[in-house]
Amino acid sequence: MTAARTPDPRIAPPSGRGLDGGAEGGHRLRGGDSIRRMGLIERYIDRLPFAPGDPVISLNEGSTPLIHAPRLSERVGADVWLKYEGLNPTGSFKDRGMTCAVSAAVREGAEAVICASTGNTAAALAAYAARAGIRGVVLVPDGKIAAGKLAQALMHGAEVIALRGNFDEALRLVRQIADAHPIALVNSVNDFRIEGQKCAAFEIQEDLDGQLDALCIPVGNAGNITAYWKGFRELHELDPGVSLPRMVGFQARGANPLVRGEAVADPETVASAIRIGNPARWEEAMTAMTGSGGSVNDVTDDEILDAYRFLAREEGVFCEPASATSVAGLLKHGAGIAPGGDRERIVCVLTGHGLKDPQTAMDESTPVIPCEPTLAALEKVLIR
Ligand code: F0G
Repeated sequence: MTAARTPDPRIAPPSGRGLDGGAEGGHRLRGGDSIRRMGLIERYIDRLPFAPGDPVISLNEGSTPLIHAPRLSERVGADVWLKYEGLNPTGSFKDRGMTCAVSAAVREGAEAVICASTGNTAAALAAYAARAGIRGVVLVPDGKIAAGKLAQALMHGAEVIALRGNFDEALRLVRQIADAHPIALVNSVNDFRIEGQKCAAFEIQEDLDGQLDALCIPVGNAGNITAYWKGFRELHELDPGVSLPRMVGFQARGANPLVRGEAVADPETVASAIRIGNPARWEEAMTAMTGSGGSVNDVTDDEILDAYRFLAREEGVFCEPASATSVAGLLKHGAGIAPGGDRERIVCVLTGHGLKDPQTAMDESTPVIPCEPTLAALEKVLIR
């Protein structure tokens, strides 16, 4: 006998569509532009500082899924979606900015690109520099970047310099190098990075029919929140019917200069990607948050790790710790949701993939279960 079961909100009913997207039973392979994932510059060329015929260095970045999060929605009393930026080619949102910054650098004849990085920008730079066939150099804080990111930067052939200092010191140095030598700086102080990253705002509004109330986002060097705000404003100017969401930024407690209102000399957090004490786009981030009716708040490392596990275990979505900051913040501080108002639509940006940082994942999980290769031994550990 089958017991009646409450449908699990995470499991959508079968669509009944075949491979061709048509009625049940269709098995033709699909092709063509409707399904193909095109690169960011190709998709949004009319809204980017590129012209047809310009060199484009792309790995088909962007067009990442917006995943509804039923458990999270239930907990906060709003409709919440996750913008899963970990599904970009190098596993983070940095690819959006990097396709633009490296394409522009190549257009200008650059033969080398450089950045300071907590890891993800380094991985993206390395991949796009490899693709472009130019030299890639990255400065990372020694011992403070996640293993996956270091592996990527090295594997793509970038020159990786481990600085005995933090991200803020690395950024100061690469700015000086780029001023003095013919090497293009592709940190988010480079406006092409902002141009590329703003396109994530376009994708979200396209997916939500232009009706978004709030965006929750981790803030480190403050490039991404600046970019989203630019994207949302551009859309709203084109069509005032498209909402201007509240920009709700979150930082880690130990690296929270925007919350404190002053630089943090020795930032420290488990979310190594946002271990930044003096963000380059500080003013613009504050303008985004205050100008949109949003806010900035912080969360502790424990709260970040709770959200990180919750997303993996309850929503089936694996992001890196820094990314979980957006969800930790939403759970702790809300996102300005007015009690008793209409049900709000909220997006949390999950900036990077969980596989970037396997060590933190394993540290935060239950240990593996050892087992001898016999049925009895397996039953002993399995059958309770
Ligand atoms: N989340 C992740 C996973 C990141 O890697 C970063 C920044 C952020 C959030 C914050 O974005 O700096 O635009 O405010 N990572 C940079 C890097 C600093 O070097 O990879 P932001």
